[in-house]
Amino acid sequence: MKVDVIIGLQWGDEGKGKIVDVLTPKYKVVARFQGGPNAGHTLEFDGKKFVLHTVPSGIFRENSVNIIGNGVVVDPVILMDEIRKINAAGVPTGGKILLSKKAHLILPTHRLLDAAQEAAKGGAKIGSTLKGIGPAYTDKVSRSGLRAGDVLHPDFGKKYAALKQKHLALLAQLGYPCSGVDEQEKEWLRSVEHLRTEFAIIDSEYEVNELLKQGDILAEGAQGSMLDVDFGSYPFVTSSSTVCAGACTGLGVAPGKIGEVIGIFKAYCTRVGSGPFPTELHDDVGEQMRRQGSEFGATTGRARRCGWLDLVALRYSIMVSGATQLFMMKADVMDNFDTVKVAVAYSLNGGVTDRYPYEVDAPVEPIYREFRGWKKPISSCRTQQDLPQELLDYVTFIEQQTGVPVKFISVGPDRSETVLR
Ligand code: IMP
Repeated sequence: MKVDVIIGLQWGDEGKGKIVDVLTPKYKVVARFQGGPNAGHTLEFDGKKFVLHTVPSGIFRENSVNIIGNGVVVDPVILMDEIRKINAAGVPTGGKILLSKKAHLILPTHRLLDAAQEAAKGGAKIGSTLKGIGPAYTDKVSRSGLRAGDVLHPDFGKKYAALKQKHLALLAQLGYPCSGVDEQEKEWLRSVEHLRTEFAIIDSEYEVNELLKQGDILAEGAQGSMLDVDFGSYPFVTSSSTVCAGACTGLGVAPGKIGEVIGIFKAYCTRVGSGPFPTELHDDVGEQMRRQGSEFGATTGRARRCGWLDLVALRYSIMVSGATQLFMMKADVMDNFDTVKVAVAYSLNGGVTDRYPYEVDAPVEPIYREFRGWKKPISSCRTQQDLPQELLDYVTFIEQQTGVPVKFISVGPDRSETVLR
């Protein structure tokens, strides 16, 4: 049995939540392997809309097992709040969520540090979601973090107090005000208590490998490959491994156990926060993408930057993760466009390159290939035959350029609005 991995191939917000939800009937087990509440996975079905931040997107399927793996960073307040909302919608979660002992905890002071460090960067800020992600991963790799398993031990209070003190000293150095931290701490400790008493906090790597003997597992990536801490446009990245390899380290599965690598991309591109975006549009077309695609952050509400599909970046992400199939999202957003453009290479310093540059300020100019728009609504299409030829030409071109089949085209936000090829 294998672990199939879903990853975003762009800058996040590709629509991974919908795909996990569509695919979960095939999988009993869904696991998150990196990131934390910076993610916002949107699921829509039966006229209802949910945004998940930490809980795996399998939760709405009956009898599913949803694992929050060791590679994830967890804010207990956000997790418990999310669970309350899911329960309030009539969906039971009891016994359906398993949390790795080795997942690191986000403290209230991590969030303050995130804000303080962003403020200190001034104009060079990353545009973080300010959920404490960077500082929590910093503590993890500097070997001073608190893990979910620690809440089960009697010295948890002592460990927490020591880490909090370290953070307060750092905040004082940065001259950042810590007002409200005591209130936040009370709520955080209450949520930790819920975690401790109501949650299955387990050795998830053993559980994952046991469950793998019984059936395939779906690993649900968060953010996107271009935000990966190694391969993204550093330093404008998140702090985890968003590429396929992150599923191995974030769950404790061997590379040979990876099956399909499902790469999700939008028919165009978006990015939230700062950093390079070669095909970004600052005109009416970009505005139309934002409006039609409701391109506002599911976690922060920020307007997303929009632009044409970038095949240089897409080929790079596919290469790094070894995507075996592609799923194209939000094709319907471009239903009214006269033309659709896609970047096939960049011109750079008088030459042409098909490589994504190391320098974040490289003065690249996209070289575009232009396609005729399909100029008709596609949301009711359910088979390949229903789709307009212009859209199929666009998809075929992407397949030729990437060497990977586009197996699935999403034509609307609902679970049912999909075309399987
Ligand atoms: P952080 O992970 O919150 O520190 O944010 C670092 C960068 O990644 C910022 O540019 C964020 O806007 C971006 N980012 C983080 N999480 C997501 C996500 O789930 N979707 C899209 N962008 C994200």
